[in-house]
Amino acid sequence: MTDDLKHPLRSQSWFGGKGLKGFVDRSWVRSRSVPGDHFDGRPIIGICNTWSELTPCNSHFRVLAEHVRMGILEAGGVPAEFPVTSPGETLTRPTAMFLRNLTSMDVEESIRANPIDGVVLLMGCDKTTPSLLMGAASVNVPTIGVSGGPMLNGSFRGRRLGIADMWKLADDFRKGEIGQDEMADLEAGLNRSNGSCNIMGTASTMAAMVEALGIGLPENAAIPASDARRNVLARMAGRRIVELVRQQVLMSHILTREAFENAIRVNAAIGGSTNAIIHLTAVARRIGVEMTIDDWDRLGSSVPTLVNIQPSGEHLMQDFHEAGGVPVVLRELGENGLLHKDAMTVTGQSIWDNNAQAKCWNRDVIRTFAEPLMRDSGLAVLRGNLCPDGAVIKPSAAQQDLLRHRGRAVVFENAEEMHRRLADPDLDVTADSVLVMKNCGPRGYPGMPELGNMPIPRKLLTQGVTDMVRISDARMSGTAFGAVVLHVSPEAAVGGTLALVEEGDWIELDVPARRLTLEVGDEELARRRSVWTSGGAKPERGFAKLYVEHVNQAHDGADFDFLVGCSGSEPPPDQH
Ligand code: FES
Repeated sequence: MTDDLKHPLRSQSWFGGKGLKGFVDRSWVRSRSVPGDHFDGRPIIGICNTWSELTPCNSHFRVLAEHVRMGILEAGGVPAEFPVTSPGETLTRPTAMFLRNLTSMDVEESIRANPIDGVVLLMGCDKTTPSLLMGAASVNVPTIGVSGGPMLNGSFRGRRLGIADMWKLADDFRKGEIGQDEMADLEAGLNRSNGSCNIMGTASTMAAMVEALGIGLPENAAIPASDARRNVLARMAGRRIVELVRQQVLMSHILTREAFENAIRVNAAIGGSTNAIIHLTAVARRIGVEMTIDDWDRLGSSVPTLVNIQPSGEHLMQDFHEAGGVPVVLRELGENGLLHKDAMTVTGQSIWDNNAQAKCWNRDVIRTFAEPLMRDSGLAVLRGNLCPDGAVIKPSAAQQDLLRHRGRAVVFENAEEMHRRLADPDLDVTADSVLVMKNCGPRGYPGMPELGNMPIPRKLLTQGVTDMVRISDARMSGTAFGAVVLHVSPEAAVGGTLALVEEGDWIELDVPARRLTLEVGDEELARRRSVWTSGGAKPERGFAKLYVEHVNQAHDGADFDFLVGCSGSEPPPDQH
């Protein structure tokens, strides 16, 4: 079975031994009712599964894994499914991001420690995608990503709903415009099938990144979780990974600088999540591609948003799939000179060969360059004395007149204070105020929660205010929207200028000029700094302690400093 391989399989380091060693490893595996010919040099393919009932978005992954398994067997490989930590977005506290790097370590060490020649990554809910890509990238075996797909369109009292509607309906609830009974119906109808959030939130964005990077099959991003074609895609990935192992196509052959540049442009064209910046930066640095947040502005900010999906647009992921999905976006980018067409993909063909013939079936959902949803609307990276290492805003999701704004700061030292004071009807705030929150960065919280889209103060909400400038070192859910400046770096907890902002300070936001300025003189800032003490978390033990001592800043991908890079796939020493 190894004749067509250019390189020996790493699994043969376990199963190919002639003496006691090979006997022990084979014998224990045969307890799973495995026939002896499975050790004859067939590729052993890991199916890395983030199935968990605590991650509802990935709760169909047992079935998905079975389809991958069938594909592997059909192609002459041997499947070996294994579980890893599943950081689900909805239930994990303090935030799933806190577990992203831990999961990546689990993935990396699980692959390297075991007789795995190639791996299929099953991922869906937000953090499961970057953590699996990061971990696999640090081993660099042949890899295919399979996303779980979005859930069906939500349904609520005759209305078609997306997750982004939840934020608006929550505001209606806070205003007393809808009651408890309606909320109960909404609860049941909003998320009514398997799958990830049904808009262009972080999960869908990251699934699109998998496709744009070429590490997933065409149509990976948008086929709904409950559509039979999702299972077929999983099966085809199972077949394909066996070929990638035989040809020794490593992850690093796919995840090149060109692939990441393609992904940045796709992110802009789909109106993708701000979280993609942090996650792709971390993945790139694992595989040895140097990316900075400035790449996102340089390559993506002039790309028009083509996809009319919530939260930037109005449709949902199911509609995106039916309109043609990411292949149509790639074709549009390619035809307009914004795609590295030769970037290689896991199909064995270039990204252009995969998608050049893609057809659009609904031009309201996927627009053309001539008639985009929005022009020049990729993510913008801001600089200034308030964010010397950068901050991020998604202009397409903001009230447009707020993209140039000057206002006085209303300052919250942490998330708890933010929640308490914003509910106070006597809070001294106007629609022109700038809400500033500290200590929600990677180290400060810790884990950089999705709290950047602070709620509009209740008293302004009842006056009809729907957006305000908000600034923090936190992240924002990909399902959220607003004039929200995120990922301020350095964060407050490590002494960034954000830590020095005081109530009433003037702040100027100028997105077209890419500036964010705290209008306080250097002398006064130095005085404030001389009496500053960190308000960030100070855990004394366990993973939280490891986290705050080693997490990088947002502009560096918020990876652990000791995880950046790749240690390769050499099998570890054998204890026998
Ligand atoms: Fe899991 Fe949105 S909460 S994908």
